[in-house]
Amino acid sequence: MPVYHIRQSPVLQGEAQINVAKNAVLPILAASLLCSSPVTVRKVPKLKDIDSMAEVLKACGAQIQKEEDSLTIRAPALNNPIESAPFHKLRASVLVLGPLCARLHEADVPLPGGCAIGQRPVDIHLKGLKAMGVESHLENSRVISRGTPKSGYIYLDFPSVGATENLLMTAALTKGVTRIENAAKEPEIVDLADFLTLAGARIWGAGTGTIVIDGVEKLTGVEFTPIPDRIEAGTLACAAAVTDGSILLTGARSDHLRSLLHKLRETGMLILEDARGLHLRGRAKRAVDIHTLSYPGFPTDLQAPMMTVATQTKGQSIFMETIFENRYMHAVSLCRMGANIRTEGRMALIQGGAPLTGATVEATDLRAGAALMIAGLIAQGETYLVDKPGHISRGYDLLDQKLNAMGARISCETGRAPEARLTK
Ligand code: EPZ
Repeated sequence: MPVYHIRQSPVLQGEAQINVAKNAVLPILAASLLCSSPVTVRKVPKLKDIDSMAEVLKACGAQIQKEEDSLTIRAPALNNPIESAPFHKLRASVLVLGPLCARLHEADVPLPGGCAIGQRPVDIHLKGLKAMGVESHLENSRVISRGTPKSGYIYLDFPSVGATENLLMTAALTKGVTRIENAAKEPEIVDLADFLTLAGARIWGAGTGTIVIDGVEKLTGVEFTPIPDRIEAGTLACAAAVTDGSILLTGARSDHLRSLLHKLRETGMLILEDARGLHLRGRAKRAVDIHTLSYPGFPTDLQAPMMTVATQTKGQSIFMETIFENRYMHAVSLCRMGANIRTEGRMALIQGGAPLTGATVEATDLRAGAALMIAGLIAQGETYLVDKPGHISRGYDLLDQKLNAMGARISCETGRAPEARLTK
């Protein structure tokens, strides 16, 4: 069980290389189940969620070979999984549903796990499959889907990222033209479509609200390097914003981060881009209002780190979390550290400017953990961030060490009982 010991840190200065995106790798790993020959995914970061997804693929009959930072997936034959444990570890395990339906014409998979940030049902996935002629029901905490997928028209009630990915994968191997309306537009959807296209799929409109897929009979293996992680880049940008930093994020794509960069500029930060990457300078001074939305709106995954920023600006910030119904758990811990935050349902009012002091706090989910790590950098004294299930390493490859390389003072102690500290 990791416990991060964070001491108040000087101004962050230096450079960080942005990893390949977790949320791009996971659907691409699922999509490799559609391919008749081996797929190699390059520059895969060392993340617990990716290890868990590899377990999920293995439970579906795939073979995985790991070599340095590459994963090679062979899936000549698939089966429905018996083992449930890896499925419960992450939400993205539900993404094997589409490939199994496409290849086996039936799927019987355990319900997914993942961060407890809301109810996170799978109804939109199943409604989309139904529009393709695949009937599904839930039984004993499993999703059971049966039927040969047929091309057709799908309207998503909400532009769900996972549902768009599942349906895109199913349609890629389904004869005829399928149209997905109100599709998610996230960069990770475009990356999945690029991967599938390279493997032989025929897809138009990824990144817009309407995706059209002309199904093919076969997809072949390819080598692919997914896009950089916009959420890792955004998290580090928030760390710079609270520490009056001057940092360079190499490999970050500003076109994937427009809403965050716009908001950080609104707070008074200087942001420049050149061939080396994104330069962020200065401190966030002015309050900003944040309304999380589907892409290209402000990402819900950066709401927590941005809330840490808002605790340090002058004036009141209003946050509206519209994507997940339970994604303010970090606010309680930030208040424990001295922040002035009031939450009311989907809304949070942050009265900025209160100095933070070190405390013992818990990472309740992945992004909440990152937000608290950033808060620890500016808190007077020492912060102990207890990450019982290891949320942070599910989605960030050595976030503490990346921050340390820019001047932070974080050590990760593993295994020391945190209970005594929690009662401090
Ligand atoms: C993806 O989750 C990301 N995960 C999440 O990243 C991210 O927060 C989320 O998209 C939104 O951007 C991966 O890509 C692996 P959704 P996903 O389906 O696909 C509701 C992180 O920290 N909904 O777009 O699960 C759902 O409950 C995370 O890296 C239904 O009601 O997100 C939520 O309120 C966590 N029925 C909203 O839609 C459904 O069938 C958005 O969910 C599906 C979703």
